[in-house]
This record gives sequence, structure tokens and C-alpha cells, in this order.
Amino acid sequence: MDKLQRPVRSLRVSVTDRCNLRCQYCMPEAEYVWLPKSDVLSFEETARLVRIFTSLGVDKVRLTGGEPLLRKDFPDLVRMLHGNEQVKDLAVTTNGVLLATQAKALWEAGLSRITVSIDTLRPERFRELSQRDQLKDVFGGIDQARSAGFTGLKLDTVVMRGVNDDEVIDLIDYAKSVSAEVRFIEYMDVGGATRWTAAQVFSREEILKVVAEHFGAPAEPTDLESWAPARRYRLPDGTTFGIIATMTAPFCRTCDRSRLTADGMWYLCLYAKTGTDLRGKLREGATDEELTALIASTWQSREDRGAELRRDPIQVEMLRSDPHLEMHTRGG
Ligand code: GTP
Ligand code: 5AD
Ligand code: SF4
Repeated sequence: MDKLQRPVRSLRVSVTDRCNLRCQYCMPEAEYVWLPKSDVLSFEETARLVRIFTSLGVDKVRLTGGEPLLRKDFPDLVRMLHGNEQVKDLAVTTNGVLLATQAKALWEAGLSRITVSIDTLRPERFRELSQRDQLKDVFGGIDQARSAGFTGLKLDTVVMRGVNDDEVIDLIDYAKSVSAEVRFIEYMDVGGATRWTAAQVFSREEILKVVAEHFGAPAEPTDLESWAPARRYRLPDGTTFGIIATMTAPFCRTCDRSRLTADGMWYLCLYAKTGTDLRGKLREGATDEELTALIASTWQSREDRGAELRRDPIQVEMLRSDPHLEMHTRGG
């Protein structure tokens, strides 16, 4: 347990800081300072670190990026992590662009769940938002994931005022049509979101209002006590959706997750400015016991609750000096 009695249960592993989209809310610039290739952990190094985390109680592992499907031979990593029987839930968060070509391989490698980021259903808007014209690939990816056998698909939508707040109902309908659950995420002022403004945050309250007006009845909250960041709601016809209200209702008190970057830096919070260099220790020849002791003691002293305390947003100049502060390095 950490200092706020939160267990270490969920690990988000970023496998690359690169991405094939340039979403306005995450990595809007054309070029970035990338992590040096030689610093990026090999699959063997990643699997070894994950094994140490699972020995300490982690049983949920989510692979993220950047865009994880850009990592060469990515399904091989999934297969290796699936071989760790302490990983009960192995998931991927992807933008879906490359999913059609990899869905079958990921299923065969033992992946349990997929979350696809999709912020709009309109091709022109997708192009404006992500600076790439690939919405049809994302739709294709979702279809192929279903054909490959994946169930319980989740769709993640960052809702921004004046950008896509008019698509809340359409996204609920689309999700239903592909047997998925959509989660609306409040636009966060995390590192990388250099164009963030408070005025663009479309809050949970506003989302619920749009939904209630459309369906003529409020959405009912379900499973109130949960460690997941999303609060779930049910519509009169049984359809469910989620809202991740980091901005207006931070959930730090129940945050059981930490993050490992592609180059082996370990962060205890999405907003943390410093992390623990596990790659350095690993490559200096640390034993499993030494790494286990370091991770356990670091977690025990964890007090982070970044979303509750954010007073000091990360500045663009800081992002340039340390790419680890970027959301796409940190793993979303
Ligand atoms: P499951 O609950 O296992 O499905 O995973 P998840 O909701 O953690 O995964 P996902 O990658 O879909 O996360 C959705 C979004 O929630 C992220 O992209 C972030 O925007 C936000 N988020 C995830 N983890 C955190 C966190 O630790 N803190 C905060 N403040 N926001 C988070
Ligand atoms: N606000 C909210 N969510 C964000 N993500 C990235 N940047 C932001 C932001 N500024 C999340 C989204 C996206 C995932 C990859 O990272 O959920 O789907
Ligand atoms: Fe956890 Fe930090 Fe996110 Fe709060 S802001 S929920 S402590 S990662």
C-alpha cells in the first residue's frame, strides 16, 4: 500500500513514444524530441520488469504508447506478457489506425481487451483533429477486432467544447452498433496538451445534460464503488457508457496505477514531474531482488494525487527539455 492506502494493482506500459496521428489534445506539433532508440526497453527487459511488478501485486497491465501498434513485432510482446500467469487482465489502448492488420495476431497472442480512441465519426473533423485522413482505417480496425474475437471493446472520446461536443449522442449510438462501450473523457491539461484551455473542457455535468435532454430521462449511475477512472451510466434502453471526469471530479483517492515509459522510467502519477529510472538499474545489472525492493519502497512512499493538486501546469519549455513529461511518452 502507498501512503494513502492505495494498492499497486495496475501498470500502464508505454511501448513507444511515437505516434502516427497528431491529435490536438495530445501531440499537436509536427516534430518532437523522441526517446533515443537505444534507451527503449527490449521485450525481454519489459517482460522482466512486468514480472517484478506482478510479484508485488499488479494484475492489470495496459499497453499504451504513443501508438503501441507502431512498435515492431508488437504481438510478440503481448505473447510474452500473456505467458505471465499473474497478469489477469492484459489490455491495449490504440488509436485504431493499424488495428485492422494486427487484430488477429493480437487475439492469437492472448490479448484480453482493446480500447480504441475515437473522438469523432466525421472524416473531415477527424482530419482536422488528428492532422491525418484515416478515420476509415479506425472503423476498419474496430470491425476487424470484433471479427478476430474481441468482446467488451471500449471507445475513448476526449470531449472538447466547440470541437466534438455535438457528437455525444452519435458516439453512444455508434458504440452500441459495434457492441462497444464509449467513455467520454474531460479534456485534461496534461503535458503535451499545449493547446488546452479551461474554456474547452466539456464537463461530466454537461455531457449528462446533453444525454438527459436527448433521451428524455437522466442516465442512471451504475457500480459507484470502483477503482476504475470511469464512472458508468445506464440509459433507459440498457445501453451503458462511461465518463472520466479527471478535471471536475478527480479520482486520485482510488488511483492504483503507475506508468512505465518505453525507456524504463517509472512514474507514480500521470502528472508526476519526476520518476524512477528502472532501465538504468536494470542495465547496471541489478538483481530481481534489488529491483523488487526499489519498486516496493518507492510505492510505499507514494503520496501523489496530481489531478487533485494541479496548480502548476507543465509548460511548453519544460516539455522541450524533458520529453518524459509528454502525455505520449507517459502513456495516456
Ligand atoms: P480500464 O479501466 O482498465 O478499461 O482502463 P483505463 O480506463 O485506465 O484505460 P484507458 O487507456 O482507456 O484510459 C482512459 C483515459 O483515462 C486515459 O487515456 C486518460 O485520459 C485517462 N486516465 C487513465 N489513467 C489515468 C490516471 O491515472 N489519472 C488520470 N487523471 N487520468 C487517467
Ligand atoms: N485530455 C484527455 N485525455 C487525453 N489523452 C491524451 N491526451 C489527453 C488530454 N489532453 C488520452 C485520450 C486518448 C488516449 C490515448 O490518451 O484518452 O484516447
Ligand atoms: Fe492517479 Fe495521478 Fe491520475 Fe490522480 S492524477 S488519478 S494520482 S495518476
